[in-house]
Amino acid sequence: MNSLDGTVLVTGGAGYIGSHTVRSLREAGRDVVVLDSLEFGRREAVIDAPLVVGDIRDQDLVTATCNEHGVTQLVHFAAYKAVGESMEQPARYWRNNVAGTVDLVEACLASGVNDIVFSSSCSVNGTPAVNPVTEDAPIQPESVYAESKAMVERILYWYGQTSDLRSVSLRYFNAAGASFDGRIGEDWTHSQNLIPLAMKAVLLKDRRLSVFGDDYDTPDGTCIRDYIHVADLADAHVKSLDYLAAGGATTAVNVGTGIGSSVYDVLEATAAAAGEPVPYDIAPRRAGDPVATFAEPSYAQRTLGWSAQYGLTEIVDTAYAWHKSQVELGR
Ligand code: WQD
Repeated sequence: MNSLDGTVLVTGGAGYIGSHTVRSLREAGRDVVVLDSLEFGRREAVIDAPLVVGDIRDQDLVTATCNEHGVTQLVHFAAYKAVGESMEQPARYWRNNVAGTVDLVEACLASGVNDIVFSSSCSVNGTPAVNPVTEDAPIQPESVYAESKAMVERILYWYGQTSDLRSVSLRYFNAAGASFDGRIGEDWTHSQNLIPLAMKAVLLKDRRLSVFGDDYDTPDGTCIRDYIHVADLADAHVKSLDYLAAGGATTAVNVGTGIGSSVYDVLEATAAAAGEPVPYDIAPRRAGDPVATFAEPSYAQRTLGWSAQYGLTEIVDTAYAWHKSQVELGR
């Protein structure tokens, strides 16, 4: 059977990027089954696909799920992603993000699943010496979280050398935004990221955003990032599965727009979406923040036929609409 004719197992499919990818896969006509522990994911975020509640380390559950649903390809999102927490509780990241992936891959290989798309991160490059960042930039993680992503990339490489497994590791830049139909979006409960926190500051009247430094060597003094719409990210996963089904070789791909935006750019766009300014104060720099990082996106275009369709305006407009709807629902 061509692997495109089978079902896609999406681990972490009840999470932010995972739930958007599930919807994109379904819109592309793919059958999907989601495996999520619901430790952070939300059941209601899984739309038009069965949800199996469990852990990626439960190999019997993974094998049974693959066999019951005719799984031929895997998209693996399930992981912890709090950079600060990873430095305080490293074992939690080694066990879940790294060892958990080995257990998952072993169960998938035993079930005949050889195509894997892995949720990696631009943070494997740490503070890039050169922007835009290409795929051959040095791998120099600066946190346990980022190291766990780099380690899994290498583990997947070696599975490619010792088995029939082929993989695409997608190195996300800054994922943000929400679905255009407003049905799913980011859960800001635990987020420490700029865009959800800027939305909290402008929507909830009890807080102000801290801007971590305005004295960087950038045009407006604030850090620069490559914000990528979650719908664009989801599409990159769909195209990666097509690439693997067509026999594509194991690779790692930067997934960004190639456009850098500053913190102030984000606050200006948020103010335009909200019709009022974002309340903020200047705070000290945050340790570990690169002054600038943004992607060189041409390899994604050449390899996957993928490029970002949306920019900062769509990201902020959809994020604002989503979080406003959640506030109005009392969530
Ligand atoms: C962005 C900018 C902050 C919060 C994230 C993920 C990382 C990876 C890449 C997936 C920085 C500034 C932030 C705030 C601020 N993605 N900021 N006040 O650190 O670039 O990394 O995307 O793996 O895992 O964490 O994202 O949104 O935290 O910060 O001024 O309250 O906004 O200094 O310049 P980051 P971020």
